[in-house]
Amino acid sequence: MDLGLRGRTAVVTGASRGIGAAVCELLEAEGARVIGISRTGGVDVTHPDSPAEIAARAGQIDILVNNAGTSELKPLDDLEDSDWRAQWALNVDAPRRLMQAFAPAMAGRGWGRIVNVTSSSAKRPSQTNAAYSVSKAAQLSLSRVYADAYAARGVLINAVAPGPVEGPLWLAPGGLADQLAARRKVSREEALAGQAGKVPLGRFAQPQEIAAVIVFLCSEQASTVTGAAWSADGGSVPTIV
Ligand SMILES: NC(=O)c1ccc[n+]([C@@H]2O[C@H](COP(=O)([O-])OP(=O)(O)OC[C@H]3O[C@@H](n4cnc5c(N)ncnc54)[C@H](OP(=O)(O)O)[C@@H]3O)[C@@H](O)[C@H]2O)c1
Repeated sequence: MDLGLRGRTAVVTGASRGIGAAVCELLEAEGARVIGISRTGGVDVTHPDSPAEIAARAGQIDILVNNAGTSELKPLDDLEDSDWRAQWALNVDAPRRLMQAFAPAMAGRGWGRIVNVTSSSAKRPSQTNAAYSVSKAAQLSLSRVYADAYAARGVLINAVAPGPVEGPLWLAPGGLADQLAARRKVSREEALAGQAGKVPLGRFAQPQEIAAVIVFLCSEQASTVTGAAWSADGGSVPTIV
């Protein structure tokens, strides 16, 4: 199947590792020109100037993947205003600013794709980090608002909601696996096995498996999909929508 991505320019946030890095690799393999954005690459998407910096690097943008995000284990009662604000800034303000900056020009050319990477915890809030879950749910709503506003002008906007992914967010030293192990007073392996056991598929996803869903939604072939909130969670969220 030809995804029709050759010659398209794509901006991917959160590109330095994990899901974002896998999305960049796959888009490039499909012939797209990819501009990867991360703080280590010099652009913090929570900064209000980031759309201008990205536009200067990318020129015309056909595809935007709002993927930058992070989480940590923090009990509800320990969350402070700064935690809530930080998650809102990354999951809502940053993608909103980038869509506001780039969707009108896509609409002017009559073609665009935007994918917002949320989380299964947007659909079924987890107790891991409520600030993360709540802002990811808001990101789903934001994605739908933009999808409805731009569908008639050829800009298709969707959300992808992954479950646990076997990437650095979980596996890096001090990442979610180590944090969960410390909280539950179990080994890191037991913590990971416990998490995998909650997924009907029985395992974590690989970053490439999430990237495949995202890249399909960026493609010519996803030409009737807009306003969706696609679960890519191994069946974790027990709903039929
Ligand atoms: N991993 C999972 O289990 C899982 C599950 C559900 C949803 N998700 C979502 O999937 C997305 C990607 O997660 P991941 O697992 O790939 O995480 P990851 O491995 O921790 O990668 C996160 C990426 O975001 C970038 N980033 C973080 N803050 C940024 C900022 N302010 N400005 C620009 N870039 C920033 C990081 O690069 P720098 O540090 O260089 O900035 C990194 O490239 C996130 O939105 C996450 O919430 C992940």
